[in-house]
Amino acid sequence: MVDAIDAVNTQACVSYVSGLQKPSGVFAGDEWGEEDTRFVYTALQTLKILGRLDTVDVERAVEFVLRCQNYDGGFGVVPGAESHSGQIFTCVGVLSMTNTLDRLTPASRDQLAGWLAQRQLPNGGLNGRPEKLEDVCYSWWVLSSLAMLGKLHWIDQNKLVGWILSCQDEMRGGLADRKGDAVDVFHTVFGIAGLSLVGWGGLKEVDPIYCMPVETTRRLFGPR
Ligand code: FPP
Ligand code: ZN
Repeated sequence: MVDAIDAVNTQACVSYVSGLQKPSGVFAGDEWGEEDTRFVYTALQTLKILGRLDTVDVERAVEFVLRCQNYDGGFGVVPGAESHSGQIFTCVGVLSMTNTLDRLTPASRDQLAGWLAQRQLPNGGLNGRPEKLEDVCYSWWVLSSLAMLGKLHWIDQNKLVGWILSCQDEMRGGLADRKGDAVDVFHTVFGIAGLSLVGWGGLKEVDPIYCMPVETTRRLFGPR
């Protein structure tokens, strides 16, 4: 984001990350081996930024992600695991950055977008899965997924903006997971990024695939 990618030892980084891919297509998070869709996303994102996606088996990674889709349209951490909006972000992100979103049928994309839209609660906030509390960070995980699917208009954006803004601590400036809780930088960035996605307040445009300013991803990857 600060245009300093040349400072990275690219070859060392590429061989480390590519070495974490398993025969199933999934990536481990480190040498101790927790494996799930978060690491598929972060590994492919790293390699994409470094321009070295050719060093891994992208097709197998995509097939792994597709196996994580559930009967309700959502995605989980591994095949058969409960749908969760955070994992949906990683899976839809992988399919988007590898230009394979069309491997989901139109009906399945609609079902997924419907599941995501149902995350909006009457107060305007979004939760991560059914029966859970709303949380500002889902203003990124849910909203970016809807944006990648071209279905941002399936939720009430004005209501969400009002709810996100209500989570700002007016004394400290940052945002909390929900109104009245302690603020932190994690929820602050995802709240601001969510506000950017809905075009609120003249914020810089954020890229829903990478959670980086569009001016950065255009510089790295060219126009989409
Ligand atoms: C809480 O789960 C977890 C989160 C709020 C983070 C979810 C986000 C991801 C898994 C995506 C991570 C993305 C990358 C790129 C690494 P919980 O079950 O405690 O929360 P809940 O009660 O809201 O369901
Ligand atoms: Zn949160």
